[in-house]
Amino acid sequence: MKILGIETSCDETGAAVVEDGRRILSNVVASQVRVHARYGGIVPEVASRHHLEALVPVVEAALVEARCRWSDLDAVAVTYGPGLSGSLLVGVNLAKALAFAHSLPLVGIHHLEAHNYANWLEDGDSPPRGFPALALIVSGAHTDLVLMEEHGRYRRLGRTRDDAAGEAFDKVGRYLGLGYPGGPAIERAAATSGRPSVRLPRAWLGGAHDFSFSGLKTAVLRLSRQEGGRALPVAEVAAAFQEAVVDVLVSKTVRAARREGVSQILLSGGVAANTALREALVRRSPVAVSVPPPALCTDNGAMVAGCAHFRLQRGPASGLDLDVFANLPIA
Ligand code: KG4
Ligand code: ZN
Repeated sequence: MKILGIETSCDETGAAVVEDGRRILSNVVASQVRVHARYGGIVPEVASRHHLEALVPVVEAALVEARCRWSDLDAVAVTYGPGLSGSLLVGVNLAKALAFAHSLPLVGIHHLEAHNYANWLEDGDSPPRGFPALALIVSGAHTDLVLMEEHGRYRRLGRTRDDAAGEAFDKVGRYLGLGYPGGPAIERAAATSGRPSVRLPRAWLGGAHDFSFSGLKTAVLRLSRQEGGRALPVAEVAAAFQEAVVDVLVSKTVRAARREGVSQILLSGGVAANTALREALVRRSPVAVSVPPPALCTDNGAMVAGCAHFRLQRGPASGLDLDVFANLPIA
């Protein structure tokens, strides 16, 4: 089964063709990062305009690269939430038009569920096996710890109470003058530092599975301004910040994995591209860890198409009245 996947929830315009939920025949992403870098963050109105310009050529390129005609496709899948409404609308409206024009089923996909299904794409390790699995989904807008009991069956154990992990990376990147997006910039800066001489606070929130990163962000702000009369090098602050985020994400995930007795941990979302996080989770996990290659952690159409394959195995397609939902919980 070949599915076209469309992703426009944030600032990447993505389209891909994936076969049987695993084999990537094409995966085209037009990033708007440079456009938004000028503003130090994503400007929703600008994002939706750029999706409008980029999406049709990106979809055409995905079909050409996959050597697919419309008649070779079995469905059109699209992210319908969560995300920026104006951006989601561009993808959903084009997907509806294409599904209608080519008489294909339309499949509305949850963005975070799509991130998790990047673990099934064959560019990664062998496909995840065994449920229940524990999914840590860390993106620019979400930090969710989700128990995946079966395909399509989720129970959310924890989420961020304030900033998402990626949002904290982006804000701290801005404070430190490292530019946007902060995640990759902080990772690069931290790599030039030795072990940081300072330890930033971690929010453990008792035994809860929830996360909080806003206190850490404030601590960085204070530290980057002045530490006992001496300014710390930016690289060292970046390293101390990254160390604190990774420590909290990994400690809480490992604890939940033990408590719930899961067979594996699935890491995904843009922040999962971070090498320190990937390595620490693999090192400290009591069970197997699956994590997609970095290019499949950040937003892309392949994860949407892959997720749709598993969705169609167990339920009907969406109607052409599919709407967008800026806030759509995974469970
Ligand atoms: O999943 P994603 O592409 O978009 C959303 O769904 O939000 O995630 C984007 C987020 C941004 O906050 C970005 O700074 C972060 O992922 N990110 C990283 C890295 N690469 C991207 N954070 C830490 N380390 C990275 N290497
Ligand atoms: Zn995302």
